[in-house]
Amino acid sequence: MHSFEELSALFTEKFSVRHFPQTPATLYDPGEYFLSIGGKRIRPVMCLMGNELFGDIHPDAFHIAAAIELFHNFSLIHDDIMDKAPLRRGMETVHKRFGESTAILTGDVMLVLTYEYLSRIDNIFLKKIMRHFNTAARQVCEGQQLDMDFENRDQPSHEEYLKMIELKTSVLLAASLQMGAIMGNAGKSNQFHLYEFGRNLGIAFQIQDDYLDAFGDPAKFGKQVGGDIAANKKTFLAIRALETGTPAQVAEFRRLMELPAQERVPGTLSLFRECGVDRWAYDLKEEYISAAYAHLEDIAVQSFRKAPLKELARFLVQRDH
Ligand code: IPE
Ligand code: IPE
Ligand code: MG
Ligand code: MG
Ligand code: MG
Repeated sequence: MHSFEELSALFTEKFSVRHFPQTPATLYDPGEYFLSIGGKRIRPVMCLMGNELFGDIHPDAFHIAAAIELFHNFSLIHDDIMDKAPLRRGMETVHKRFGESTAILTGDVMLVLTYEYLSRIDNIFLKKIMRHFNTAARQVCEGQQLDMDFENRDQPSHEEYLKMIELKTSVLLAASLQMGAIMGNAGKSNQFHLYEFGRNLGIAFQIQDDYLDAFGDPAKFGKQVGGDIAANKKTFLAIRALETGTPAQVAEFRRLMELPAQERVPGTLSLFRECGVDRWAYDLKEEYISAAYAHLEDIAVQSFRKAPLKELARFLVQRDH
């Protein structure tokens, strides 16, 4: 068995190779640039953890882990175009540095590479893994579209917001764990509880991401703080302010939304604080963390095997970057 830290190191070592051919450099260098700036690599580690919960790591789990991380990076490159984000992982985003058209294609070719890694896994597992992978991948696209649709919607409900973040973020975390479990020959009930652990944790993770986007420390966050406000994102912060603000606060929020993108950030942040949505975020996050832990309890393996997942959960929801 490996700790969270050991699994991260193991994956990073295997993944820190050149992934693309040399030419044309104008296509492949941006991909290498983006992969080389790293990130937390939590999804591939979750896949390995899901596997190790039930037995020794199957060599093919590393192909799946690599595919998951590549898919995640592809989705970020395109997400940064959609969100007009200038910064990621403390560095310039691909579209800022290399132009939008190249960033689109860099993402596309990274998605192709994702499937090249998946195609390497043993035939016994291939069909099943593809089914789970493709379901999650499709759901991410659905969530991303809802996220954009909400930019132009006046006031999506709290439930709609939760569905959106479940799709765009949490299903990939959940599926990463489950695909690992499949490689460890886990039974259906254990797979279910592990998936639900990841799904609930993923919701808490995105709630925290939305919180950090508004209130994070720019030096640590690595992304542009206030980016969601500038892009008119209907995060739970915005939804909660609209739902619980006084009529005067709601009117002020609507006035701010009409201002040019960057000008609306400081006023909106003060308004969020005034409405107490920052404190409320903490409780909402806790709710999903508790639900995640309840499912972890229900997985029928010896409890010492769950230690790395507990470490991971703590890391995920306490991050400041
Ligand atoms: C960013 O994911 C996108 C979200 C779903 C919030 P991560 O926070 O895992 O990004 P990296 O890979 O560590 O940069
Ligand atoms: C993105 O959510 C989730 C995916 C990339 C699928 P965000 O747009 O909030 O992620 P960040 O904040 O840019 O990392
Ligand atoms: Mg984004
Ligand atoms: Mg986005
Ligand atoms: Mg975000």
